[in-house]
Amino acid sequence: MPTTVIKNGTVVTADLTYKADVAIENGVISEIGQGLTGDTELDATGCYVMPGGIDPHTHLEMPFMGTYSSDDFDSGTRAALSGGTTMVVDFALPAPGQGLFDALQMWDNKSTRANCDYSFHMAVTWWGEQVFNEMEGVVKDRGINTFKHFMAYKGALMVNDDEMYASFTRLAELGATAMVHAENGDVVAELTAKLLAEGNTGPEAHAYSRPSQVEGEATNRAIMIADMAGVPLYVVHTSCEEAHEAIRRAKQNGKRVWGEPLIQHLTLDESEYFHPDWDHAARRVMSPPFRNKKHQDSLWAGLQSGTLSCVATDHCAFTTDQKRYGVGDFSKIPNGTGGLEDRMPMLWTQGVATGRLTPNEFVAVTSTNIAKILNCYPKKGAVLVGADADLVVWDPEKEKTISASTQQSAIDYNVFEGHHVKGLPRFTLTRGHLAVHDGEIRTQEGHGEFVKREPNATVNKALSQWKDLTAPRPVQRTGIPVTGV
Ligand code: URP
Ligand code: ZN
Ligand code: ZN
Ligand code: ZN
Repeated sequence: MPTTVIKNGTVVTADLTYKADVAIENGVISEIGQGLTGDTELDATGCYVMPGGIDPHTHLEMPFMGTYSSDDFDSGTRAALSGGTTMVVDFALPAPGQGLFDALQMWDNKSTRANCDYSFHMAVTWWGEQVFNEMEGVVKDRGINTFKHFMAYKGALMVNDDEMYASFTRLAELGATAMVHAENGDVVAELTAKLLAEGNTGPEAHAYSRPSQVEGEATNRAIMIADMAGVPLYVVHTSCEEAHEAIRRAKQNGKRVWGEPLIQHLTLDESEYFHPDWDHAARRVMSPPFRNKKHQDSLWAGLQSGTLSCVATDHCAFTTDQKRYGVGDFSKIPNGTGGLEDRMPMLWTQGVATGRLTPNEFVAVTSTNIAKILNCYPKKGAVLVGADADLVVWDPEKEKTISASTQQSAIDYNVFEGHHVKGLPRFTLTRGHLAVHDGEIRTQEGHGEFVKREPNATVNKALSQWKDLTAPRPVQRTGIPVTGV
């Protein structure tokens, strides 16, 4: 079998930094050591050899708000690889009333085009006996151990507290993990109607309709419901101090809760919505909205302290024409922004190059932490013999200015347009296949494979054991009074 060797680089993992060559055979790492040779040699002089990024939150070709997100599994995973991300986890989203396996069939069909490996989270968009029953097969047969619940998008995807409690309880039984989009959907719907009635129809009103308090409240509520049900909880797109505070407090109290800030919330702020150009503002409409510096500082501190775990993108890209569905009514602007190609370079530039994160912390929050949470470590998220050769050779001196004109994403703009980044892939490898060679894209449509993820990762077992030990039990009493006398 021909070998590829990455030579002269510095291996950087979540916990180690050392000089070594890395050999790859048959798509996996076969040897790590000094002076290795191979049929193909890639020069990593001056570079860091890191686990490829894992983006745990994407929406590729997703039906949403009357349209489909415009990046599919081809353009989306090409964008991912171009920016050093080698695995994406997309949300299979049943329409209300649709079965889970039906939805998975749709996602199976779309994902045959993937250029890098991928997995799915399942979304619970409605509740009933069919969903309850199918959850078992989704976990045990399909290898999907994460289920997302929308606490917002009332009248569409939103589920209520009783439904969440029922679903979370089922997930606890199955050894799976609950995920939430945490915003109080009832209050968002009321605020939206009020703003529109008062003539606030522009994209700035999107931000007014979803203040940080609605996210904080929903995060607290989700944490409480997960605790009652005894299930681990992953909070997607944590964007504000109130939500971070809830997660931090839960962690300090021993609860199994993780928070996921997005690169957009870390680096772009609410002033974008007050831009005089309607298109500029609408292109940045997403939920939760961008926030102010106080919230951004909180998110960075969360990554530094470990109270927030993973940086994602929530990549859900709509063209300018699609965004214009909401001219005259901000609530019709399709919610979502792109970021797959830019997550790693933006985080390196604004995180590592500023001293807010160490290179090892960068690997942890872009790859290793989520691989552990999702239970696909060390196949993914590791530089170890036997791990998949999903690797990025990271050149800290390589620079560019982000521009839609050179991006892989299919849309006609980029929310990071004009941002200068320093720190980019020299090479990106997906299971040993060289997909990016010094800026040249050599991706292979269909190369990507589905990553199965078993239930009952360590934390599920530990949590259910603890919940069992501390469960209510009737007190065995003595001296029972004789009744009926
Ligand atoms: O605005 C967003 N985030 N769009 C994608 C769907 C979601 O809520 O994650
Ligand atoms: Zn969401
Ligand atoms: Zn999302
Ligand atoms: Zn290949």
